[in-house]
Amino acid sequence: MARLYGDNEDINSEKVKDFFNERANKKVDSDLSIVLFQDKENSERRNSEENALFLENIDCSDKKVLEIGCGIGRWAEFFKDKCQCYLGLDYSENLVGIAKNSHNFDNCNFQVMSAFDIKIDELLVEPPFDVILISQVLMYINDDNLKVLINEINTVISDDTQLFITEPISCMDSRLTLKDFYSDELEADYNAIYRTENEYREFFQKLNCNEINSFDIFMELNERSETQYMSFVIK
Ligand SMILES: C[S@@+](CC[C@H](N)C(=O)[O-])C[C@H]1O[C@@H](n2cnc3c(N)ncnc32)[C@H](O)[C@@H]1O
Repeated sequence: MARLYGDNEDINSEKVKDFFNERANKKVDSDLSIVLFQDKENSERRNSEENALFLENIDCSDKKVLEIGCGIGRWAEFFKDKCQCYLGLDYSENLVGIAKNSHNFDNCNFQVMSAFDIKIDELLVEPPFDVILISQVLMYINDDNLKVLINEINTVISDDTQLFITEPISCMDSRLTLKDFYSDELEADYNAIYRTENEYREFFQKLNCNEINSFDIFMELNERSETQYMSFVIK
């Protein structure tokens, strides 16, 4: 059980998967609360704020969208009448089960797949994708696997692809890693990496893109001093 400041310490991806599979069966306020960890009202406010920031920055009309780490599929609700088609990938079978049951739309699909083992030939929608969305997922992926994921993304994008990425980041000079850290709020051991904005920017520079912009998000709802949320718009 540790709260590690500064060190680049790996977390166990299988434990993260077990955490989310178990969370799928936990009694919480709403489906949004399963993945956003807040009560119903706070989760809905976060969902709306993120949707609005996305719309201000990304044109998804008639586009092919890939979401990596889609959880319960909350974004399908948003995309169903905006994009050409949406594909959500997640490695938690239980969350993908909820996504399929709750968001049964003709132009939306979900698939069980790990972010750092994307099987391009098996994707239900053929690449390239015009939009890539990743929200609150990279925090669960170790540095080596994040490099793998960035290479994978480069194989499924085109020259015009737009990326929207939201992550909690460290507001300190260096990262914070929670490793098997018991969280009273979540009533479980928790694992996550809060990288600095600069660390993320260094990773994102390896994407075949020209421009990285960042935006503070959920600031009014943030009760923490060491971390905050940030969205990156990459084109
Ligand atoms: C905090 S939830 C966010 C879910 C969704 N992106 C959203 O914003 O509603 C994190 C999600 O990342 C998924 N995840 C974590 N590591 C993953 C990996 N290596 N491959 C695929 N999904 C992963 C979890 O299963 C979980 O659904």
